[in-house]
Amino acid sequence: MNNWINIALPKGRLGEKVYDMFERSGFECPSIHENNRKLIFENEEKGVRYFWVKPSDVAIYVERGAADIGVAGKDILLEYEPEIYELLDLDIGKCRMAVAAPAGFRDEPQRTLRVATKFSKIASDHYAAKGRDIDIIHLTGSIEIAPILGLSDVIVDIVETGTTLRENNLAVIEDVVPISARLIANRSSFKFKNEKIEEIMRALSALKEEK
Ligand code: PRP
Repeated sequence: MNNWINIALPKGRLGEKVYDMFERSGFECPSIHENNRKLIFENEEKGVRYFWVKPSDVAIYVERGAADIGVAGKDILLEYEPEIYELLDLDIGKCRMAVAAPAGFRDEPQRTLRVATKFSKIASDHYAAKGRDIDIIHLTGSIEIAPILGLSDVIVDIVETGTTLRENNLAVIEDVVPISARLIANRSSFKFKNEKIEEIMRALSALKEEK
């Protein structure tokens, strides 16, 4: 049986921090630091193979078993509900999902609220729990301009520093859910490569406690 552990890392700023945690946990892969455009890196001695994928695709690789483990934002896990195991909150990539609106916005409960978002399921669940009628406008980026142009009344989006909202004259009116990066595992890998996956999980968890 193939005993390599395939690890899907989210490409970008978060991915650098994530890889750094794996490295400090003893699962380093020095070739990853070489500045090139390769996407797959191996350390045969440690039996780990890392690959960079788009952050929103990590859960797909893990769900289908192309990766045994990976790191995905809680936002993606809530939105797509992939059939994976969520093993550990890594306490990095912290931000929040929030409802934001233009300054001075006043909700009129008798009107259907128009909500622009990339996270249709999270937004629908949030308003369904409150019994509020909404009309979802699904967008894939630059969500902040929707209420400015009158496409929507509010947005449901990720807020990290709050700069994007501020610079577009929007403000948070309600928090939806806190978000952070999670270590996830393919369900059958977790069973068949359990020892190694648990070892990685314990090492990452110990790092968190050191903080
Ligand atoms: C997210 C989000 C906001 C921004 C918030 O976009 O959609 O636009 O970050 O960050 P801030 O509060 O620090 O300004 P991201 O950069 O992830 O890219 P996206 O446009 O692909 O969603």
